[in-house]
Amino acid sequence: MNFTSLITGGAGFIGSHVAKQCLKLGHRVIVLDDLSGGFEDHLPEGVIFVKGSVTDAPLVERLFDQYQFDYVYHLAAYAAEGLSHFIRRFNYTNNLLGSVNLINASIKHKVKCFVFTSSIAVYGKGQLPMTEDMTPIPEDPYGISKYAVELDLRAAHEMFGLNYIIFRPHNVYGENQNIGDKYRNVIGIFMNQIMQGKPLTIFGDGNQTRAFSYIDDVAIPISRSVEIPEAYNQVFNIGADKPYTVNYLAEVVSKAFGVKPQIQYLRARNEVVHAYADHQKSKKVFHYASNMSLEEGIYRMAEWAKKVGPRKSQEFHNIEIRENLPEGWGN
Ligand SMILES: NC(=O)c1ccc[n+]([C@@H]2O[C@H](COP(=O)([O-])OP(=O)(O)OC[C@H]3O[C@@H](n4cnc5c(N)ncnc54)[C@H](O)[C@@H]3O)[C@@H](O)[C@H]2O)c1
Repeated sequence: MNFTSLITGGAGFIGSHVAKQCLKLGHRVIVLDDLSGGFEDHLPEGVIFVKGSVTDAPLVERLFDQYQFDYVYHLAAYAAEGLSHFIRRFNYTNNLLGSVNLINASIKHKVKCFVFTSSIAVYGKGQLPMTEDMTPIPEDPYGISKYAVELDLRAAHEMFGLNYIIFRPHNVYGENQNIGDKYRNVIGIFMNQIMQGKPLTIFGDGNQTRAFSYIDDVAIPISRSVEIPEAYNQVFNIGADKPYTVNYLAEVVSKAFGVKPQIQYLRARNEVVHAYADHQKSKKVFHYASNMSLEEGIYRMAEWAKKVGPRKSQEFHNIEIRENLPEGWGN
């Protein structure tokens, strides 16, 4: 049987890879994306593309009526975690209320499974490593909206039997990432800066650590998850295990472009210093082993970035609060 899947945010980075994998699995794929952060040329051949927003409830209803989706993969969001403090209303409208439109429609149309990309941002400062059985205490509006959607999915399951699978990825990088967004994606930012001959900007001393996850290690388990009954109504951390400092990352990225790292340190921003998650649970259920080294993954992404070239950094025009806005983020 051929399944029909809705992929929101499918013109974006992770969404375009999930769309590609779902096509490989034989799904009919409909992508809903407003192109606020995605690109039409990231859409894999064979998807049906609808340009529009998840915040447009009548459009969402029409699509569910028209296509009778078996699965919903909800990836659309504006994921600029640090910026979310300063764009609170936009964050909750786009990332929370937009999700609610999809959950309502999925309940009414008896979708078989709703796959949601949450984030390790839900954990807040928490203990390390972050494990799925911890009680999340998100500390920024982005993380709060992700956790609210998680809780709403649980409530929808209890009340209406809507099945869900929640993924909490972190620091994903690879081909198709939006390297032109100055508010997020440190690897893309570094590549964009190098290609424009600019120094690499680092907030704080660069000793903060993150475990950077190559796209295939995230997109493949997400797309296949709907075929794995034991994944239903569960939450999974997903991604790479090993944390690296942002200073080391700057070295690896510079090497991939054959340049010496030139770094400009900026005032530290209010962010979690160390963040890494435990992946035992997802490895057990999805049987994936993340074999991609940081150096090889960065090399692959750099080869792609060199082909597409630098992207002009976009400004976010509707900043709602300017107090404490990090250096370089005003317009
Ligand atoms: N990249 C990461 O490291 C990471 C980590 C944790 C969670 N996530 C989550 O994974 C998902 C995908 O992230 P990504 O890194 O691919 O980002 P991305 O910006 O590349 O992709 C998001 C896509 O959603 C679209 N979009 C945004 N708002 C929309 C709306 N209202 N209606 C329709 N489309 C909309 C954008 O145009 C974009 O194509 C997001 O939900 C994000 O929160 C990403």
